[in-house]
Amino acid sequence: MFIDPFGRAITYLRISVTDRCNLRCVYCMPKEGLSKIPPQAGQWQVRSDQLSVEEIVRVVETAAKGGVNRIRLTGGEPLVHPQVVEIVRRIASIPGIEEVSLTTNAMLLERLAQPLADAGLKRVNISLDSLDIDKFKRITRGGDLNRVWKGIAAAERARLAPLKLNTVIVRGLNADELPAFARLTMENDWHVRFIEVMPIGNAQDWGEGFPAPRERYFSVQEMGVALSTFDLQPVTAPAGNGPARTYKIPGARGTIGFISPLGEHFCESCNRLRLTSDGKLRSCLVIPNEVSLREAARTGKPLEKYFYQAVANKPKQHNMCVSMPTDTQRGMSQLGG
Ligand code: 5AD
Ligand code: SF4
Repeated sequence: MFIDPFGRAITYLRISVTDRCNLRCVYCMPKEGLSKIPPQAGQWQVRSDQLSVEEIVRVVETAAKGGVNRIRLTGGEPLVHPQVVEIVRRIASIPGIEEVSLTTNAMLLERLAQPLADAGLKRVNISLDSLDIDKFKRITRGGDLNRVWKGIAAAERARLAPLKLNTVIVRGLNADELPAFARLTMENDWHVRFIEVMPIGNAQDWGEGFPAPRERYFSVQEMGVALSTFDLQPVTAPAGNGPARTYKIPGARGTIGFISPLGEHFCESCNRLRLTSDGKLRSCLVIPNEVSLREAARTGKPLEKYFYQAVANKPKQHNMCVSMPTDTQRGMSQLGG
């Protein structure tokens, strides 16, 4: 078993299968993508540094032997990986792996939902930050909201349930849409989760028409106030809802969750480890300790020791705060959210 120095059992592995993405969300990347910003702020990974399907499978086999039973594929955007269905199929059949899920922007989900479900995918989390076509396009720098809705419909047909929507709330950008997002849960059996924006990724200026860096943070407490007309009732979180505090509008079909990485961090119960697409185990989103297992995975060597190293390195907690520039070496698109 992988137990860290603070007694937390590691049972959940998030795998970033690629750092590439078909969108350029303002809080995640500069509009030019990662290649045009200063070198210290991140570069696209060299493709030959990225793990192959075979290598990912080896990592998951080792993880499963150590007690990991849930896997989430992330990116960048996992659906731009040409072999994503194959990755799901291989991982889902590894003994000990009980659930494979995926976080996506849904742009490519319409076509892939059914093949992914057939390959053994259980659930999808969809990142969706606006219900307004033009604002969605502005936030994602080119995304098409209609394609997201088609992707969501396809996910429902493929029974990738319960469907979760992840919404990063930013003051002066989409905080006014909190009630509209909350209302989605009335008719739909979805889990809508509101997330505080973190100073990770593109923490610089987002350009004309966007709120300035120091204005953007909107706490979960403020979100609660914005939703006070709904009479939210606390409920037990649905399976796999991780760090979200969960509520329900009376009579609604779905739930509403609040995730507060900054205000009320949930490090005490953190059971996760991350694998970056270039083959590094990372024990905390915020703290840049990484253990590379790429060479060992490539040459077929045993991988347990890298897991033990990463687990031993897992910090008790992070102390990310609103104004603190965090590790700029990697953005969210390289860490997998
Ligand atoms: N703050 C909060 N959430 C973020 N994500 C990406 N960058 C940030 C950030 N700076 C979210 C995406 C997606 C998930 C993978 O991570 O919106 O839902
Ligand atoms: Fe792509 Fe997700 Fe980053 Fe948006 S937040 S650019 S969808 S990786």
